[in-house]
Amino acid sequence: MLIRQMREEDMEQVYSIESSSFSRPWSKDSFLSSLKSPNNLYLVAEEKGTILGYCGVWGIVGEGEITNVAVHRDFRKQGVGEAMLRELLRQAKEKEITAFTLEVRLSNQSAIHLYRKLGFAATAVRKNYYEAPTEDALIMWL
Ligand SMILES: CC(C)(COP(=O)(O)OP(=O)(O)OC[C@H]1O[C@@H](n2cnc3c(N)ncnc32)[C@H](O)[C@@H]1OP(=O)(O)O)[C@@H](O)C(=O)NCCC(=O)NCCS
Repeated sequence: MLIRQMREEDMEQVYSIESSSFSRPWSKDSFLSSLKSPNNLYLVAEEKGTILGYCGVWGIVGEGEITNVAVHRDFRKQGVGEAMLRELLRQAKEKEITAFTLEVRLSNQSAIHLYRKLGFAATAVRKNYYEAPTEDALIMWL
């Protein structure tokens, strides 16, 4: 498995994972414009041309907001999410990002488990933050 920067050519596979993982997926254009900012960092995990998963962080004055994390259904629970996020955090720290935050659905136990394992702690609940279905968000910080 190779973890590398996301490129425009990855977009079809990234969007396919995104749209099968979330009820309100990001558009390809949202990914493409996010990729272009030098303050952001987007990585994919790839195996022989197949994108296994991706993650991204937006850097805003020393703080990193993790905006996207998803692993292809067929490759979950194999350590891909953890490996990608560890690399994302490592590279972001090199860019002087010292604190990280993210939001996650309260019911998303697999993601919350992974974020806790990486050292994130829950700090707040944002009521009815998500749609389809309506659900509270857990705010986590590292
Ligand atoms: C959340 C997600 C990214 C995890 O990716 P993954 O590659 O399956 O995770 P890993 O294999 O690296 O697992 C890391 C840890 O989480 C645990 N975990 C993963 N899926 C789990 C599940 N369904 N239930 C319980 N624990 C789970 C693993 O057991 C592992 O912990 P451990 O080492 O203590 O056993 C993946 O499930 C996914 O893409 N979900 C849909 C999209 C999503 O919800 N993204 C997050 C939005 S905030």
